[in-house]
Formats: sequence, structure tokens, C-alpha cells
Amino acid sequence: MQGAPFVALRNVTRQWHGRGGVADVSLEVGKGDFVSILGPSGCGKSTLLRIIAGLETPQSGTVHISGRDETHVQASRRGLSMVFQSYALFPHLTVRENVLFGMRVRRAPAREREAKLAEATAMLGLEGLERRKPSQLSGGQRQRVALARAVVSGHPLCLMDEPLSNLDAKLRHSVRRDIKALQRRLGLTVIYVTHDQTEAMSLSDTIVLMREGRVEQIGSPQALYAAPETIFAAEFVGEPPMAMVDGAALGAPDTWVGIRPEHLSVATEGKADLIGLVREVEYLGAETHIVVDHDAARGLIVSATGHADWRPGQTIELTLPAKHRVLFDADTGRNKKDPQQNCGASHRQTEPRDSHTAHHPQSVTD
Ligand SMILES: Nc1ncnc2c1ncn2[C@@H]1O[C@H](COP(=O)(O)OP(=O)(O)O)[C@@H](O)[C@H]1O
Ligand SMILES: [Mg+2]
Repeated sequence: MQGAPFVALRNVTRQWHGRGGVADVSLEVGKGDFVSILGPSGCGKSTLLRIIAGLETPQSGTVHISGRDETHVQASRRGLSMVFQSYALFPHLTVRENVLFGMRVRRAPAREREAKLAEATAMLGLEGLERRKPSQLSGGQRQRVALARAVVSGHPLCLMDEPLSNLDAKLRHSVRRDIKALQRRLGLTVIYVTHDQTEAMSLSDTIVLMREGRVEQIGSPQALYAAPETIFAAEFVGEPPMAMVDGAALGAPDTWVGIRPEHLSVATEGKADLIGLVREVEYLGAETHIVVDHDAARGLIVSATGHADWRPGQTIELTLPAKHRVLFDADTGRNKKDPQQNCGASHRQTEPRDSHTAHHPQSVTD
């Protein structure tokens, strides 16, 4: 990101009776960036997005958009569009009327409306569907109508809250590509909420990983993958996730040793770091996942290229190459190396590192 941030949150807190919501969140979004807010259900993603939208007011902290303090500006005056999981289309209006609703309210001239409609329907493959009602559309088409509405609004900032959750797997992929293409083509700034790390990884310039209302790590997808700052980040990002081995089993006490599945390998004669038992073998075509049980490890999965000839119950000897091990302090859960020195310029932190501790004082109940 260059220059002043387009969207900036500073120490934003919004809780209910001292719990839930978000606490002390700071982040910056550059113009034209695609930023995902990622985290498990209930970690405060929607609350954060609603604060940016102006649908929720923080108890403390500020929201700046385009350099202006918008903390107390109402949603309709913030110049942004929103796309929700639930589409939020008017059921009694046609595709055309839904897409043009905002322009009609603004009394935009008919010629401009027609031009915008044609552009948006072409961009999202909705031509020929203009006179249908939402009930006559598939889920994917409905979400494309919601996207077309955001395009037509002409706002440079688009907030999306789990927009793909109601779609089946195949559609999720194609609409995901539509969203990315749209963002690139229009130069939109997108803030995108998801609990799905694959979506966040594939779409984002920057990921804001959240946990229990707080920021766990902010960084590029590569930074989160290669240099997770905490065990939580290591296990949340990546599929299958990073394996965690009790360092005592590897001669590194008081440490958890993390390793990605593609870096685990089957040991050659006598060079094993761990000897485990094959529990499950999943053949996926391009690769095979060998799920391994070991008393000192969790999430131990070897990702082998192509077909790997293993059967449940077999003994398997594994090597964890030293250069691919990520070491975490067993007490704090934090990466023992400073990841900022590790993973290059794309990593950016908007707060002092000490402010995100591994153990949060309050617990959040769903
Ligand atoms: N209006 C509200 N009143 C009380 N608690 C709320 C309210 N909105 C959200 N919360 C709580 O705040 C936490 C975060 O919610 P939310 O932002 O919706 O999480 P996410 O979108 O990550 O699933 C949850 O524990 C939720 O129950
Ligand atoms: Mg939510």
C-alpha cells in the first residue's frame, strides 16, 4: 500500500456487556486492495464489517474513509456498497429493478440507467434475465444480481460478508472468480469477510486473521502461510493445516514444531525424525494425503505427489527437514523467530507486536 490508507480503523472496540464483538482492532486498507477478514465463526468479522459500513457504532476508536473521520457518519452517507450472504434482493422486483433500485432512488437519468444496467449485466453474465424475479433465479444468479447492484452503485468501496456461503461448491468457485475479476476491472477496494481460508488465500492482497474479537495476524497470504506468528494462525491457514509436534520428541523442549504437509517426507533408511502409524490414506489424484498417528503430534498429514502406496496400520518413518520447521514457544504460542524479518516486505503490522498476545483474557461464548 502506498500513500494514505483508503480505510483506516484505529483501536476500534464494540462489545456487548464486555464480551463478543471486537476489541482494540486496528487495520489499514489501501485503495484498490482486496482485504479479507478471516476467522472462525463468532470471532467478530461481521461486527467489524458493520462498523466499517456504519451499521454499528464503536464504543471507542475511529473509522476513517478517504482520510475523513466517518466514525459517526450514517451508513447511507459513507459511499460504499454491500453484498451479503443472503443476497438481500427485493423479491417482488425484477432483476432489472433490483439492479437499478439505487439509481432510481437517486433519480439518475434514464439513459444513464440503461447504460449502467447493460454494462453490469454483461459483466456478470445476466443478459436475458432482466425481467425475471429473484425466485426464478438460481443461487449463483441471485448473488450475481447483488454484485451487479454493487457495480451499478459506482461506489469505490465494496464490503462483502460471506457472499458465497449459500452457494454449492462449484458455484462458489465461479462466483469467486467473478468477484476477483470485477474488483480488478473496476479497481474496487473490497473488504471481504469469510471463515473459509481457501477463499481468503485465493482472493486477497492482505488477510486480517481474527480470533476472539482481536487481530491475530495481518499479512499477505504468503506471509500467513510461510511465517505464521502464532500456533493459531499456523493451524487456521492451509489445507491440510500445519502439523504440530511436541518439541520434546525432536530434542527441542518447551517448543511446538510446526511443519506443512508438503514438507513432511517419508524417511530414507535410518534417517527418521518420527516413527508413526498410518491411520488413513486419501488419494486425491494429483496427490495423496497420508494421515499419521503419533503420540507427540497433532495434524500429522503427509502430502505426497500422485499416488502413494500406503495402507492404514503400517509403520511410517518421517523426516521433518530443519529448514521447513517453524518453532513456536510452548508457553505463549508465538513464533520464536520474528516473522517480520523472515518473510519480506508484504508483511505489515499496524500495532506493536506485543499487543497481540497468544492468550486473551476474556473468553467469548457464541
Ligand atoms: N447485537 C449483538 N448483541 C450481542 N452480542 C453480539 C451482537 N452481535 C454480535 N454479537 C456477538 O459478538 C461475537 C462476534 O459476532 P460476529 O461479529 O457476528 O462474528 P462472526 O461474523 O465472526 O461470526 C459473537 O459472540 C456474537 O454473539
Ligand atoms: Mg458473520
